[in-house]
Amino acid sequence: MAEKKKEIIWVTGAGSGIGRETALAFVNAGYEVAVTSRNTEMLEKLKEGLGDKKSLVKIFKCDISNHEEVTAVYAKMAKDYFVSCLINNAGVTSFKPAGEDSVEEIQRIINTNLLGAIYGIKTVLPAMVSAGRGSIINTVSVVAKKIFLNSSAYSASKSGLLAYTDVLREELRNNNIKIINILPGATKTPIWPNRALEKFSERMMTPGDVANVILKLYALDGTAVPEEITLRPLKGDL
Ligand SMILES: NC(=O)c1ccc[n+]([C@@H]2O[C@H](COP(=O)([O-])OP(=O)(O)OC[C@H]3O[C@@H](n4cnc5c(N)ncnc54)[C@H](OP(=O)(O)O)[C@@H]3O)[C@@H](O)[C@H]2O)c1
Repeated sequence: MAEKKKEIIWVTGAGSGIGRETALAFVNAGYEVAVTSRNTEMLEKLKEGLGDKKSLVKIFKCDISNHEEVTAVYAKMAKDYFVSCLINNAGVTSFKPAGEDSVEEIQRIINTNLLGAIYGIKTVLPAMVSAGRGSIINTVSVVAKKIFLNSSAYSASKSGLLAYTDVLREELRNNNIKIINILPGATKTPIWPNRALEKFSERMMTPGDVANVILKLYALDGTAVPEEITLRPLKGDL
């Protein structure tokens, strides 16, 4: 009989912010976690202070917007592991009015936040379908539901991801695969420019608080699935 593969949680964009805290929350809860991003130095730093749990972290360099790279990295993971949960977290934005975004900037945002997340889903899904289980958690954003200035391409990417995964969820109703969309509001991470952090960081959510919710939602069992969860700072949007 073929040996059963070990399970791993894949967190994209785990080098900083929400992804880093999410990876740490899962590792501290005892899960093996594959962490990916373009900068592996940040991923190595994530291991600092983990003590014995360091061995639960597997580091892979992966530009999520590059389909071939995503496929190759997944193939490496899949040799030893079943990816039981993909956390599509890598994301970028520009904080500029639509008219000032260059075509290259727009492509970078859509290719990372929307196509990158879809590439991740396409790689993990066949094994999840054949195993008859799995979870796909997407860090979307409140921008998918509410208009914020200076975020046109970002909003398009997040609304697109919400639409894609809402359809996917319906198509997978009989496959026992959970599609969980998290829509965070302002969270204190390096995605924000310094001027915004200086002004607003006191009232933003911490990435650790967002990560704890993600871990709890993943760990829920039973017959209910949290399909879409909005998280806002206590004082509301900025
Ligand atoms: N902070 C907020 O207020 C907020 C609110 C709602 C939603 N979100 C969403 O939360 C997610 C995490 O953002 P964050 O706020 O934690 O920002 P962050 O600290 O800037 O983290 C973004 C992560 O994405 C990675 N990344 C960027 N482009 C990538 C690419 N092409 N391939 C692979 N990894 C890539 C970055 O690492 P490398 O540069 O090393 O690749 C980094 O690890 C994003 O999807 C963001 O849209 C954030």
